[in-house]
Amino acid sequence: MGELQTTVTMTVNGERVTRTIESRVLLVHFLREELGLTGTHVGCDTSQCGACTVLLDGEAVKSCTVLAVQAMGKAVTTIEGLETDRLHPIQEGFWAKHGLQCGFCTPGAMMATTYLLSQNPNPTEEQIRVGLDGIVCRCTGYETIVRAVQHAAQLMNSSTQTERSTEVG
Ligand code: FES
Ligand code: FES
Repeated sequence: MGELQTTVTMTVNGERVTRTIESRVLLVHFLREELGLTGTHVGCDTSQCGACTVLLDGEAVKSCTVLAVQAMGKAVTTIEGLETDRLHPIQEGFWAKHGLQCGFCTPGAMMATTYLLSQNPNPTEEQIRVGLDGIVCRCTGYETIVRAVQHAAQLMNSSTQTERSTEVG
């Protein structure tokens, strides 16, 4: 007997997508295999490593813990959705402060950072460590990741201030 199939529609990085898939497919595999968005990594498939973190309706989730059908009608943002015609300040922060070595955890770390800074634009070091505690990094020792997030926060806050003063001016 064939697998149960479901047609799912969701918005991924601003684009509406519809696919017919097996109902048991996890969101991470939907993103990687159906849509070719391989920036979302799979380190464990069991909710341990955080490499698969994406935003689902603005909330950080481990996409190996969510079925694609559970994302039906929702907005998903992956690491590919951060960059437009230039580096996003979060990518710039990680680049400038060497917040990565092998890079395997980095997409998940950046998406967790995106969520953290959306909730708290000026996190303390402790809040950064708590905000990223679902992300396992075997390389950096986390020091450079903390500095990267601090730098990203500064860049985002200064661009917000520039936008405000441009609007006022
Ligand atoms: Fe999802 Fe590791 S692949 S938490
Ligand atoms: Fe290698 Fe984090 S940079 S796992």
